[in-house]
Amino acid sequence: MGTQLWVALDVPTLGDATRIAELLEGSVDAFKVGLQLFVSAGPAAVRMLKKKGFDVFLDLKYHDIPNTVSNAVRSATRLRVDYIDVHLSGGTDMVKAAVEAAKTEAVKIGLRRAPKILGISVLTSLDDKALEETLASRLSASELVVHLAKVARSCRVSGIVTSIHEVSMIRECCSGDLFIVTPGIRATADAERHDQRRVGTAADAARLGVSAIVVGRSILRAEDPVEAATRFRAELRGATP
Ligand code: C5P
Repeated sequence: MGTQLWVALDVPTLGDATRIAELLEGSVDAFKVGLQLFVSAGPAAVRMLKKKGFDVFLDLKYHDIPNTVSNAVRSATRLRVDYIDVHLSGGTDMVKAAVEAAKTEAVKIGLRRAPKILGISVLTSLDDKALEETLASRLSASELVVHLAKVARSCRVSGIVTSIHEVSMIRECCSGDLFIVTPGIRATADAERHDQRRVGTAADAARLGVSAIVVGRSILRAEDPVEAATRFRAELRGATP
């Protein structure tokens, strides 16, 4: 399967989310519900998307004690989301608890498939300088991502969220079928980066064999979001790994 296009529904209200979901129906592979929409609209946003038949990535970036995270994963599983993310830096006990909770809750409520747990490595808005300044990290972003990819592997998460800069390194160090999701995607290499730092294009992602790209502002703020989504998809199809 080629690289999927996931659109971040980073909008303030359920009405906005519904309008965009209807507009982009047929042009995207899944929608991402993140902090902004979930805090304002709550589970109704997920229910709206599932009712329309979309795959949903619940991007609440869990990072808490294992008990709290596993309960939050159970709640998300009951909402029938397809992907849930947790920070790999939350510790192996927390990440393992998330993986286990998704599986057991899915069995309990009779789902055919448990949601996939995606481990967040290093946010695409952080670069080496930010890591050094805020975390006093002596590792570069790439070195830290490779380390966290091994953590992801050992905790048996289904996939990892990272920038396209580290995809080859992850594939090298963690052979197998890790699902790789890359935000920080822009239409062209010189496009506006906004607050993102480790960015790349859809064509780069497709060439590297990324499983799914997440695009927000480059589609949501486009004059014609459908045309923008169609262009991203064409770029994904045009570049083969
Ligand atoms: O607007 P833009 O395309 O930069 O949006 C990227 C989306 O991906 C945002 O919703 C952001 O929260 C999300 N994301 C990210 N980095 C991660 C995980 C999710 O940028 N590591």
